[in-house]
Amino acid sequence: MKLLEVEDLSVVYEASRSDPVRAVREVSLTLDDGEFVGLVGESGCGKSTLGYAITRMLRPPARLESGRVIFSGTDIASLSGERLRRMRSHGFALVLQSGMNALNPVRSIENHFGDVLRAHQRTSRADVRRRAIELLEAVKLPPETLRRFPHELSGGMRQRVAIGLVLALDPRLVIFDEPTTALDVLVQKAVIDTIKDLQRKVGFTAVLISHDLGLVLDSADRVLVMYAGRIVEDQPPARMVTNPAHPYTRALLGCYADPRAERVELAGIPGSPPDLSQPSAGCSYAPRCTLVEPGCSSAEPPLVEIGPRTSVACYVTARQSAHPVAGHENEGQQ
Ligand SMILES: Nc1ncnc2c1ncn2[C@@H]1O[C@H](COP(=O)(O)OP(=O)(O)OP(=O)(O)O)[C@@H](O)[C@H]1O
Ligand SMILES: [Mg+2]
Repeated sequence: MKLLEVEDLSVVYEASRSDPVRAVREVSLTLDDGEFVGLVGESGCGKSTLGYAITRMLRPPARLESGRVIFSGTDIASLSGERLRRMRSHGFALVLQSGMNALNPVRSIENHFGDVLRAHQRTSRADVRRRAIELLEAVKLPPETLRRFPHELSGGMRQRVAIGLVLALDPRLVIFDEPTTALDVLVQKAVIDTIKDLQRKVGFTAVLISHDLGLVLDSADRVLVMYAGRIVEDQPPARMVTNPAHPYTRALLGCYADPRAERVELAGIPGSPPDLSQPSAGCSYAPRCTLVEPGCSSAEPPLVEIGPRTSVACYVTARQSAHPVAGHENEGQQ
């Protein structure tokens, strides 16, 4: 069942002294209830901005320029004030950042849970404690953790506390924005396993944003690849590894030999991403693309379905898969 539908969403950063940065450009996507979706792409391609936009957590200078975000039938892009607050306290969506930034160094873990749970209408101290201990147990931390302060915990434990705090709000959608970046590989795997385990038990929809393609391919049911503010590929991970559709995904996968064995940062593709304050008329990936053809500079390719659960935004791939994009000049030249 559909949980979230995003239609033609665009976000722009408008700082007074520089050109507007078009960080998210005409993104459309659907998230189903209970899905575990990975979102990958090079630094600066708009992953965090998209996560904040679909949870209505954008702050100036970011501005939702256009588009609709339908959450369980309500367009939350146009909600404000009390209606948005009410939506949030009824299981709406949240972004979870790194545990390093999510916790207040001068407050105990019990106080953190107290703040969140009281805001979520649990009032008595005993009630708060009981629920906080349950949540700590869910993220595999002992009840004594309540007495501790953030600096007394390891990075992995802090991240688990941050996950517990998010779960306290019973969200239906959680965006995990690089949740394990500062952690070593084994702790990283344990935290992701906990997230997967909770996601299965509690049933929320998860979006995992990461630079680490290997981590995403290992954990997600579906992978979205973002480039220059747009989604360029949407595929299940097993097929993406064997049949990457977009030339950019192919380049990302080419950065490492064995996707299951090693943690690899997304790096090593010749050229650099475009300046998002000066978008080109055609495909943004064209200057770095090995398949580029003259028609690729005509207009940005739309994301089109080329097979079961597989979409790509590339004129050349779409044509080769017998799903040509109508009106494109390259059509028919093989
Ligand atoms: N406060 C801001 N003011 C102006 N531009 C910004 C601001 N925050 C982000 N941007 C720009 O928006 C674009 C998208 O940024 P975003 O942080 O969403 O990318 P990202 O994919 O999450 O990158 P990373 O992997 O490094 O976290 C980038 O070009 C960035 O420079
Ligand atoms: Mg980011």
